[in-house]
Amino acid sequence: MEKKNIDWSNLGFGYIQTDKRFVANYKDGAWDEGTLTEDANIVMNECAGVLQYAQTCFEGLKAYTTEDGRIVTFRPDLNAERMIDSAKRLEMPPVSKEMFIKAVKEVVAANAAYVPPYGSGATLYLRPYMFGIDPVIGVKPASQYQFRVFATPVGPYFKGGAKPITIRVCDFDRAAPHGTGHVKAGLNYAMSLHAIVDAHNQGYDENMYLDAATRTKVEETGGANFIFVTKDGKVVTPKSSTILPSITRRSLIVVAKDYLGLEVEEREVYLDELKDFAECGLCGTAAVISPVGKVVDHGKEICFPSGMEEMGPVTKKLYDTLTGIQMGRIEAPEGWICTICE
Ligand code: PLP
Ligand code: COI
Repeated sequence: MEKKNIDWSNLGFGYIQTDKRFVANYKDGAWDEGTLTEDANIVMNECAGVLQYAQTCFEGLKAYTTEDGRIVTFRPDLNAERMIDSAKRLEMPPVSKEMFIKAVKEVVAANAAYVPPYGSGATLYLRPYMFGIDPVIGVKPASQYQFRVFATPVGPYFKGGAKPITIRVCDFDRAAPHGTGHVKAGLNYAMSLHAIVDAHNQGYDENMYLDAATRTKVEETGGANFIFVTKDGKVVTPKSSTILPSITRRSLIVVAKDYLGLEVEEREVYLDELKDFAECGLCGTAAVISPVGKVVDHGKEICFPSGMEEMGPVTKKLYDTLTGIQMGRIEAPEGWICTICE
């Protein structure tokens, strides 16, 4: 199969339309089988549930070319499970795990020419999503839904790739206690847009959100969880019921313990403690592991000893091991790698 003529190594995190996407429809209480289509546009009624009341959720995962030339995805079963949780919280009919994984596999295989080559630094980002499509004007769930998966080749989420970023402690909240922070609802991202535009205008790369109830604990950013490393080499990651349960973070906990022999603490992390950490990073599918060099808390700078030039040593080991597993250089734990094309 011939690859598309794309400058893979210079891709940013943007949308490039690929050849095929998956679409399935829910009507009269059941999902149809779904099919691949070339049509990237969606036509819907002006009163569709997604347009009026933001009834939509999504997922994000990647397809990789491995060192030995296979095309694989990473733990798609966990994305399927999380999308079921998101759908339930938004009163949408979940897509079965089987259908989710089938759709992902079909979209990757149909767009194999867009899967960036091994070593290019780029990957194929997959975006499964679903939304209410029939008219609703009273506040209630739609009765018809569409589930789609499209693919787009991407490079690093943050310009500069592995260069440490600067983030600020944000005065806006991302998620309320007992709200929707733990699921991947589109509405969580809509409400973060003002905060991220404001952060960028002030010269920061990202926002650090605090817990809305007490504003003393570190939650996450708009699109990634945090990992910290203590001065004695322990990995610490915030535990909260209002953050997204990152698949990357859950995988890194295993990598840290089982591959690197590190101690891991999943616990509440107080803003006051930041000054004591040696390293900080953002983890997620898009972010992979992006090092944070500095956090600015209302003018007060917290500079991690790892500095602004490169990833800290423990973050780097976590990064190398995780990406080594994803790209087939390091043996993966059972069930983590889903091969799509040999
Ligand atoms: N937190 C938020 C708010 C996200 O949008 C994402 C991205 O999916 C993550 C964390 C990281 O999750 P994952 O590692 O499953 O991609
Ligand atoms: C991801 O990492 O897949 C995300 O969804 C984060 C962001 C791009 C929204």
